[in-house]
Amino acid sequence: MTRFAVLTAGGDTPALNATIYGAVERANELKIDLVGIIRGFAGILDPRVPHVRLNPLYTTIPELDPHMGGTLLGASRTYIDSSQMAIMPEIKQRLDTLKVDGILCIGGDGTINGMQPLSEFFPCVLAPKTIDNDLGLNYLDEVNELTLEESHQGGRRRLENSRARPVIGLEEIVNYVTPGFATAVFVVVEGVERIRTTAESHRRIAIIEVMGRDSGFIPLGSSYGQPDLILIPEVPLDLDRLEQRISELYELQKHVVIVVGEGVVDQTGHQLGAATKSEDPAGNIIFSGAAEELKRLLCLRFGDDYFGSRRKHESADSAIFTRKVGHTQRGGFPIRFDRFHAVQLGGKAIDLLVEGRNNAMATLQWSQERGFFLDSLAANKLRDQWGKIHARHVHPSFYDLQRFQPSLLGKNYLRSVLTGAIGAEDVEQMRADMFSPGKLSTRYQSVNIDIQRRIEMLK
Ligand code: F6P
Repeated sequence: MTRFAVLTAGGDTPALNATIYGAVERANELKIDLVGIIRGFAGILDPRVPHVRLNPLYTTIPELDPHMGGTLLGASRTYIDSSQMAIMPEIKQRLDTLKVDGILCIGGDGTINGMQPLSEFFPCVLAPKTIDNDLGLNYLDEVNELTLEESHQGGRRRLENSRARPVIGLEEIVNYVTPGFATAVFVVVEGVERIRTTAESHRRIAIIEVMGRDSGFIPLGSSYGQPDLILIPEVPLDLDRLEQRISELYELQKHVVIVVGEGVVDQTGHQLGAATKSEDPAGNIIFSGAAEELKRLLCLRFGDDYFGSRRKHESADSAIFTRKVGHTQRGGFPIRFDRFHAVQLGGKAIDLLVEGRNNAMATLQWSQERGFFLDSLAANKLRDQWGKIHARHVHPSFYDLQRFQPSLLGKNYLRSVLTGAIGAEDVEQMRADMFSPGKLSTRYQSVNIDIQRRIEMLK
């Protein structure tokens, strides 16, 4: 009997259950047992290894619903790294006791880095997920062209690739898109459109902060909401040009909508969203996000006089407002694109384990001729010469610096992913579910309660 374990690590995405579902359905076909480890790597670090049988008698448990966001297994940001090699034999022993022959890790760049030490003792494969869309490469050799500098903490910080090609072909992209990204963009676009009309009515400048860490794919995708300006972390902020563009737009349409990626940096490379030195009245350091910091800078530049003369007695502070789309980007049901491809990737990852692959990942590729198709990649292809896997950045050729918008190539990329990404069933689900009368008389039924009944522990 073959038995694999599956775990979900890192920040969740709406498509995790769909990936697990794809893995379980494939395991059922191949008569493979699948046990789900609770709370990612934290689960295997726990000597009792909390786990659930996902397909007793090769039948998928009913709690596993590919349409549900989150993960029925729970996720954590606990990772294993090379400094923990000493505990590996212990972990191996636990997994041997569980009679597990390999592990499927569902995650992003943190997870694949965490998988590395484990893969020296145990076959491991990764099924990708991340709303940030930052797991992969713009082209195969990209990682060998990176230059790194020592950071203050003694680690190495990624620097922009000075030898980067000015343009890439879309078909060169390794792991074209990750499950979770399309749904995050879907949520962001709706947010941008809703903020737009209120900014328009009140003649305000709206700054909308979206997730993605150091990668600007989510802000880029927000262009479907037609924001006036998009700021991505890959391009250091040029405040003079931004101020000029904002005032042109404000004079023209009397409001401006700006989308800012949470990791956006100033000309010195400092992240705007990092803790500021300003202090609140109680003397505590204030941690402000990128949008808040951008607002502060714009308030200083425009001043109260600018808005006072145009908005009758209103200050810059009330004319400029910020909103974070926040964790709504990561929650709720996955739209069809994510659901469909996540299921496929889950199944593919099981096939990789069956083929005896180790330290590899299932990938989703795209070509003009074939559309989307599955493939695989040795995880080492993602590593730099120091063994580290970096977040994929938006390629410079995807962004138009002058217009603060996606370039033609960037738009072509977005079209290839997002055209038709929402299914009719997604719309119908929203319609039927939102004001379903039954919701007023029943409590939310948490999958955590249902799954708790199935959790087993090692003796
Ligand atoms: O990596 C996914 C992500 O949602 C990022 O976009 C974001 O910066 C981060 O996770 C937030 O993590 P947490 O939920 O742990 O605050």
